[in-house]
Amino acid sequence: MSRSPLPYNPKVLELFRNPKNLGKMEDATVSAVAGNPACGDMITFYLKIDEKREVIEKASFESYGCAANIATSSILTEMIRGKTLREAWEVSWKKVVKEIGGLPSVKFHCGILAVGALRRAIRQYYKKKGKNPEWLPEEQTFEEKQALEEEELAKMLAKKMGEFEGKR
Ligand code: FES
Repeated sequence: MSRSPLPYNPKVLELFRNPKNLGKMEDATVSAVAGNPACGDMITFYLKIDEKREVIEKASFESYGCAANIATSSILTEMIRGKTLREAWEVSWKKVVKEIGGLPSVKFHCGILAVGALRRAIRQYYKKKGKNPEWLPEEQTFEEKQALEEEELAKMLAKKMGEFEGKR
């Protein structure tokens, strides 16, 4: 079966080839992982936070994802730099997809995963601080739920694989 290439726009392709802020951040204030076993993709988001002002000084990511995941993560790190945590929280996956000039719909989840990882990192930060700002919803947002769902699926698959291996 031949697979035709996905119609990525030039901005996505450029960011995929030359991603910005790719790599582990050694001096990160906080980091968070989100994974997508459906395609075997994992992403880690790192934030360096000016804790007095609650502003993101820099952001970086590591991705084992596809072109769309790398491109959306890359653009997200740029979109949130210099923003307060609250402003960064408000960046939805739709905003990311718009900023990147659109994605094929089968690739929306790649952008959702990037935002899920970022929101997790923000929550993680406040958890560590023992703070709960009033704008931070207690309920998980769509992007976070998606990330969680995918991880639960991963656990299930890993368990099944384990059982399978055990039987061999
Ligand atoms: Fe899985 Fe893109 S196909 S992150």
